[in-house]
Amino acid sequence: MTVCLSVKDVHKTYGKSVALNNVSLELRNGEILGFLGPNGAGKTTLVKILATILIKDSGRVEIFGYDLDKHENDIRYLFGYVGQDTERSAYARLNVVENLQFFGTLRGLNKRKIKEQIEKLAAYFDFQANMDKQFMHLSGGQKQTVIVMRALLHDPPLVYLDEPTKGLDPVAAKRLRTFLKQYVYQEGKSLLLTSHIMSEVEELASQIALIHQGHIVVTGTAQALKAAVGVNEFVELQKEGLPPSVQEKILQLEPVLFASERDPQWVSFGVKDLFNGTEAILQTLRQENTRVMMRHLTVSLEDAFLHHVGTAAEKFE
Ligand SMILES: Nc1ncnc2c1ncn2[C@@H]1O[C@H](COP(=O)(O)OP(=O)(O)O)[C@@H](O)[C@H]1O
Ligand SMILES: [Mg+2]
Repeated sequence: MTVCLSVKDVHKTYGKSVALNNVSLELRNGEILGFLGPNGAGKTTLVKILATILIKDSGRVEIFGYDLDKHENDIRYLFGYVGQDTERSAYARLNVVENLQFFGTLRGLNKRKIKEQIEKLAAYFDFQANMDKQFMHLSGGQKQTVIVMRALLHDPPLVYLDEPTKGLDPVAAKRLRTFLKQYVYQEGKSLLLTSHIMSEVEELASQIALIHQGHIVVTGTAQALKAAVGVNEFVELQKEGLPPSVQEKILQLEPVLFASERDPQWVSFGVKDLFNGTEAILQTLRQENTRVMMRHLTVSLEDAFLHHVGTAAEKFE
């Protein structure tokens, strides 16, 4: 598959603090790349560089083969960008159609093309009923949808969305995700989406780049990232009431591979397989006369993060 976005060794500092430390990644045509990391990891900094709002210190960015430093004007037509300032990205007193017409004209699109695009986008985002409402009278989720439509007006092949569901209630966020997936995959677009929400990235992205403190920690599919943890299943026992000696005995069991701290209240035992692992652990607990709460968990992206970064993902929330 063709690479539409290539980022190589991009470095960016704000004064003495390093926001991006030799970041490299690739986005292929027709894919959604989830750029996932906790707050302050450097996501917005990278997206702003790609959107030509911020200048990098060094490194190279190519968009459909165009060098960002040399072909800024050509590149502008190739991407759409949604930043985080939704409220100020459209005119409060204009209605949705008027807003989109205005921004379409600003983009240099002709009237017919603008009309066509507005109709197409309204249909994709199931927004026909809101098109004549003033921007200021829309809900948070609806405003965000308008800003996304604004970014798609010139039908760019590449789209950057910086935390598009931030601040939306779960229902509005779900709606936006569903529409985005439909638009991107049906129209054959390529999307770079930043998020600090693991489940969101897992739902949308075909490729994930994990960023932590300005470093890309790992890139791959959700499945590959999770596979790196080494197990698929955890059996967890509540810490309270679990004597250290019993914990030690469990660790010696054949189906138990390791213990990790996914959650401060629980001890998580990575097991080779759930059935034998659970059976052996239960047997040990009975022998030791220990009754504790037990639960089963399947490996998540959060575990992958923990595995790759070596620290808990508490900053994500
Ligand atoms: N304009 C700025 N001046 C100084 N530091 C900044 C500026 N913008 C961001 N930073 C710092 O750069 C780092 C990365 O920020 P950002 O790219 O906004 O991360 P994210 O979008 O992942 O939350 C953070 O430590 C942040 O405090
Ligand atoms: Mg950000």
